[in-house]
Amino acid sequence: MKFDRSKVDHHSYDEKVINEQLRIFYLEHFEEKSTFAEDVKNGLLTANKFLLPKYFYDVRGSELFKRICETDEYYLTRTELSIIKKYANHISSSNINKNTLVELGSGSSAKSKHILDSFLKCRDKVKYVPIDVSDIIVESSKKLIEKYANLHITGLVSFYEEGVDFITQLDESAKVILFLGSSIGNFTFDAEEIFLKRLRNDMREDDILLIGFDMIKDEKVLLNAYNDREGITSEFNLNILRRINEGLGGNFNLKMFKHDAIFNKDESRIEMHLVSIEAQEVYIKAIDETIAFEKGETIHTENSHKFSDEKIEDIANRADLFVSEKFKDEKNYFSLCILKPK
Ligand SMILES: C[S@@+](CC[C@H](N)C(=O)[O-])C[C@H]1O[C@@H](n2cnc3c(N)ncnc32)[C@H](O)[C@@H]1O
Repeated sequence: MKFDRSKVDHHSYDEKVINEQLRIFYLEHFEEKSTFAEDVKNGLLTANKFLLPKYFYDVRGSELFKRICETDEYYLTRTELSIIKKYANHISSSNINKNTLVELGSGSSAKSKHILDSFLKCRDKVKYVPIDVSDIIVESSKKLIEKYANLHITGLVSFYEEGVDFITQLDESAKVILFLGSSIGNFTFDAEEIFLKRLRNDMREDDILLIGFDMIKDEKVLLNAYNDREGITSEFNLNILRRINEGLGGNFNLKMFKHDAIFNKDESRIEMHLVSIEAQEVYIKAIDETIAFEKGETIHTENSHKFSDEKIEDIANRADLFVSEKFKDEKNYFSLCILKPK
């Protein structure tokens, strides 16, 4: 496969042209192990051990996440999708001046394809910019262009923190930015504010942000969603240790850690942890460190914050945005909001 090199802003990208409808950019050095190794080192050498959730998503992690979305317990995908299906035509027609959709953390594009479908029905041409840490976007984009002749895709395999810079350089027209799946809930309070301010800063005054929020609800419903009966979430959680073994030469015994998901009421979030079943030591070659675990000690792997209407208003406000429209399901499980620059 031929790679052309191009430079956008201060980042460098490798460009892979698949055909005239589809090109994919890779943030240069993205595949290098250094950031992963550094992040693992920082996370495991502190008193309260943690790993960053963005490292769940290699090919296997993305596949496991797709299966989580299909479980009975994981109401998030079903609910957000039902809202999208109901309001996609409205969102398309009320933003008729916009032909570009950017999606942060697009994954399989399973939800956004319904929005794309509505946009394509009443436009000659639509541009889609999926950005994801996983190159799952190559396959999902190929499927989309097979279906739609008037869809042009420029994908980026990168963390979306960097992806924000990429979109401002590549696209000069008014955009709809999609940030679905309540992925905003994975940020800590501070990181979320920094990220949204940066995104806001890069938005045109007529851009909109379509963003999904998982709402606070019955604790049992929340806990079941992250503790499915089939154990897929458990496999997904443990996959991060497998990645460390495979990518960084770790010797984690996956049978010696177990998945745990709890609801932290004070912080209004589901926390995923990996609990060390026994006292043990793990060696990681790439960072040349031996990590000691006590019995019952945990590695905190993910936060999924849950939201209220007031909290959403506050988040928007702090980033100099406002909630222009809100779309919800009947149970008030999920809220899909249009945020606009103030
Ligand atoms: C919870 S899934 C949501 C997928 C899809 N948006 C949905 O709503 O079903 C999170 C997605 O974001 C990607 N992702 C996670 N952290 C990321 C990061 N920091 N930068 C870019 N992509 C990220 C993952 O690969 C995955 O596809």
